[in-house]
Amino acid sequence: MQLIRFLISISLVRIAGVVAAGLVAGAANTYLVTLINKVVAPGPHPDDLLTRFVLTGVVLLVSGLISQILLIRLAQEAIFRLRADLSGGVVSAPLEHLERLGSHRLLATLTEDVRSLSQAVTAIPAICIDVATIVGCFVFLAVLSGPIFAISVAGTLVGICCVELFLRRVRAIYHRARENEDLLLSSFQAVTLGIKELKLHRGRRRDFMDRHLLGSARTLRDQNVDASQKFSVAQGLGQFLQLGTMALVLFAIAAALDLPRDVMVGYVLVTTFLAMPMQNFMHRLPDLVRGDVALAKIRTMNLSMATLHNEEQLPYTERPVVESARLELSNVGYHYAGEPPAPFEDGPGAPPPHPGGRPGARSGGRPPGGPPPRGAHPGHPRPGGPPAAPAPDVNGRRRIDHGGRDHHPVPMGAPVLEAAEASGFALGPLDLVFEPGQITFVVGGNGSGKSTLAKLITGLYVPRTGSISLNGEKIDHENVEWFRQNSSAVFTDFHLFEDYLGFDRPGIDDEVRHYLEQLQIAHKVTVRDGKLSTIALSQGQRKRLALLTALLEDRPIYLFDEWAADQEPRFRDVFYGEILTDLKRRGKTVIVITHDDRYFDRADQLVKLDFGRVAA
Ligand SMILES: Nc1ncnc2c1ncn2[C@@H]1O[C@H](COP(=O)(O)OP(=O)(O)OP(=O)(O)O)[C@@H](O)[C@H]1O
Ligand SMILES: [Mg+2]
Repeated sequence: MQLIRFLISISLVRIAGVVAAGLVAGAANTYLVTLINKVVAPGPHPDDLLTRFVLTGVVLLVSGLISQILLIRLAQEAIFRLRADLSGGVVSAPLEHLERLGSHRLLATLTEDVRSLSQAVTAIPAICIDVATIVGCFVFLAVLSGPIFAISVAGTLVGICCVELFLRRVRAIYHRARENEDLLLSSFQAVTLGIKELKLHRGRRRDFMDRHLLGSARTLRDQNVDASQKFSVAQGLGQFLQLGTMALVLFAIAAALDLPRDVMVGYVLVTTFLAMPMQNFMHRLPDLVRGDVALAKIRTMNLSMATLHNEEQLPYTERPVVESARLELSNVGYHYAGEPPAPFEDGPGAPPPHPGGRPGARSGGRPPGGPPPRGAHPGHPRPGGPPAAPAPDVNGRRRIDHGGRDHHPVPMGAPVLEAAEASGFALGPLDLVFEPGQITFVVGGNGSGKSTLAKLITGLYVPRTGSISLNGEKIDHENVEWFRQNSSAVFTDFHLFEDYLGFDRPGIDDEVRHYLEQLQIAHKVTVRDGKLSTIALSQGQRKRLALLTALLEDRPIYLFDEWAADQEPRFRDVFYGEILTDLKRRGKTVIVITHDDRYFDRADQLVKLDFGRVAA
């Protein structure tokens, strides 16, 4: 089970401690039964029975307590590790992969899967105690009477087979339910992000609620009810088989073999005692199955776990950014892949394609049901066709897929295109040079590839063909993390952090005040201890704060993606006239994506994109 491997990856010592303590508790439990059996048996009793009873009780309590304490620590450590590793995995995963997954899937994993896994982890030690008690009871039965033992084992094995049959179905239902959770989270996101549109249109709101949000919620409810019912039936069947075996022993075997009374008393005692751990075990099975489903989901999302702060895996040597940047794009090409990753891998217990799922989600040149082939990852060329990387690891081996040979961002080189990948928008091949102290305007119609080019220039996307060089140094997976530290960018979908994260130089507040004045928002926003007084501002004002952050970074390359689009005309003059000119004067390499043809004369170079190509 993946879950066990994951736990072992967290702390083998701790899990061994929990299991050992659980086993001791289970053994003490069983020994207690033998003592009780002796007490109720006719005839003289050994003198030290009471002492042994008390001592066993103490051992039982202490080992149970140790097991619980170790468990609490293990479970909390596991949850922390899960959160840290998954967030680290998200931060370090290639941007294009995250964009394809969509934020709702990431959120579902960070919340739902972590919750399921932590519940499963919590169930483990109790299961250890239960299993140890069950095994101990069987050993006791074996000593008591061979035939009774054989019949009990046979009855239990039949029960396990029946439960396993149910479990397979339940696992498949949980797989589908997990996919549904993604859809539900997507609807929750739409509710929060699109609340204005929903409020303004009654018909849209009703349709959205009925078909999307409540539709997913309804299906999820039905799936959970279905799974729980199947579990209950399995449990009932297990109990029935237990009772059936007991009846067989009491009414048939005992008479046929003429078993003595003390054997029968021992048998009744043990089976009664056995009922509790058996039931507990069955009750905890759903948690284990859900945990396993969660791990499988994480694996299919190609998010590495068990690697704290994965972004540190990118080769990065502390190296100052360049003084001035000459950026050269030679034959750079990029294209998007069309399809998001498929839900679950096929395999035992894996679900059939989700009836309400995205049609064609499994199509697109991939083997049905499987995750995209590693090397065929978007933005991941396979220079020379390296062997496919092994399946993503969720069990402690430290690796993350950046599509390259060593799971690092790929070195650039000749791509191997797959049919499905080639169907997305294609940019390039482009040959461009951006000089320091030069302002380049990138213009072109909507969808012509300007923002895609921006992500390539800043190192967020990896070109599929050609290469990018910074001052003659070719960018590959060895230096891409360093390369990214050379750019400051404000994208159209920028995010504002309340703190000036990552700035710890003294006098930062004064610098911020200076820029707040220059950007004409000092009357709205103040700064104190590196924290802005508010970011609840108009869109144009928030964009000015994003610009402020970029200016604070003071990096050699500046990229603005339609920064001025929602600025008032007067401030556009300030942006194109003062701010850009100031950056140019300071020797920065300035790249401005714009539709403002009024200011085209400010550019030293004009690059016009048309359907992903530079227009003549
Ligand atoms: N994450 C993505 N996945 C797949 N295709 C994408 C993705 N982002 C953009 N595209 C496609 O790439 C093309 C270029 O998009 P891009 O955002 O680069 O255009 P743009 O020139 O910036 O347009 P605009 O002026 O509207 O901002 C579009 O046709 C779009 O369909
Ligand atoms: Mg754009």
